[in-house]
Amino acid sequence: MRHNGVMTTLAPATPAPLTIGPHTVQPPVVLAPMAGITNAPFRTLCREFSGGKGLFVSEMITTRALVERNEKTMQLIHFDESEKPRSIQLYGVDPVTVGKAVRMIAEEDRADHIDLNFGCPVPKVTRKGGGSALPFKRNLLRAILREAVSGAGEIPVTMKMRKGINDDHLTYLDAGRIAVEEGVTAIALHGRTAAQHYGGTADWDAIARLKEHVPEIPVLGNGDIWSADDAVRMMRETGCDGVVVGRGCLGRPWLFGDLVSVFEGTEGPAAPTLREVAAVMVRHAQLLGEWIGDEARGVIDFRKHVAWYLKGFAVGSEMRKRLAITSSLAELEAGLHELDLDQAWPVGADGPRGRTSGNNRVVLPDGWLNDPYDCAGVGADAELDTSGG
Ligand SMILES: Cc1cc2nc3c(=O)[nH]c(=O)nc-3n(C[C@H](O)[C@H](O)[C@H](O)COP(=O)(O)O)c2cc1C
Repeated sequence: MRHNGVMTTLAPATPAPLTIGPHTVQPPVVLAPMAGITNAPFRTLCREFSGGKGLFVSEMITTRALVERNEKTMQLIHFDESEKPRSIQLYGVDPVTVGKAVRMIAEEDRADHIDLNFGCPVPKVTRKGGGSALPFKRNLLRAILREAVSGAGEIPVTMKMRKGINDDHLTYLDAGRIAVEEGVTAIALHGRTAAQHYGGTADWDAIARLKEHVPEIPVLGNGDIWSADDAVRMMRETGCDGVVVGRGCLGRPWLFGDLVSVFEGTEGPAAPTLREVAAVMVRHAQLLGEWIGDEARGVIDFRKHVAWYLKGFAVGSEMRKRLAITSSLAELEAGLHELDLDQAWPVGADGPRGRTSGNNRVVLPDGWLNDPYDCAGVGADAELDTSGG
């Protein structure tokens, strides 16, 4: 059954602010870190629609690349001057390297919030024991969290994870307890196992269970929020302290405006027409170009967003293809102006978008599941330049 969450508390119409260390997030809405997506330009767009309310997490940064001051990585941790708090997600498998990366961020004043990613289900990562395979090794998880929290000093450290490897190897409750013991400030749970990838539906009951299990710190729910109403429903059904929204924002940064309105009890903005969507597309591509320092590369990076923005509109397959291979802002704008821009928001554009497939066998190192408490380490190559959570 879909989202038949355990009724724990009835969320008030205006939920309590979410507290992450010294930061107050009101309303308690968080943009999920998404590799290749939640860079400074996309965060700027989402913040513009939310009126600056909410928390917007960077795409994942690998700790090894950060410590080595890899050029691309240094660009990824760039924040717009107006971004407050600056929120960075780190991914690392080695306690020492994670500690170094976090200390570097603290000493160089590069962020105000650090989130640690333990949710990546990509086989090339789990095969080495990284990503969502890692929390199965309780001692390694504890060591990483300890180094991160002690290295971060005043900066709050949160963690993001999945339910576990598969239904027979759930890790989220143990990981939650370890996180509390090590001084983690809040936990986000994506209600899927690694085996599920993005398939099926997120298990919101697990979010409710985690909330009951770690009452000491805020629990953020994540998975399958496609509309502002879904966010309210998740808070009501699970008792979670805030929501983390990922794929629902792909090609729809204005969802953040809807989220703020629904939690503030104000009338939300009307769904955009294609003319308004087209204007956001051009602005998104333009911001990417400014951020990269090259208009053409910005437009090329924007190509991956085109299908999400146009989902459900009557555009025609030829035009869809043409718009997805543009290389300049002028070309993008010219193509968009050929469309019937008076189209209203299509009902079919609501609901799931982005990756939705899953149910794979999780590839793990030999013997990985034999002992959750051994002191296995993870090879540094589990920290590949990879895509996410
Ligand atoms: C394209 C893409 C990239 C992602 N990259 C990351 C990442 O870098 N770090 C992370 O913790 N999760 C990552 N995720 C997972 C999301 O943060 C989120 O947990 C997941 O999409 C479920 O939430 P949703 O149903 O709201 O999309 C990624 C997801 C997608 C679709």
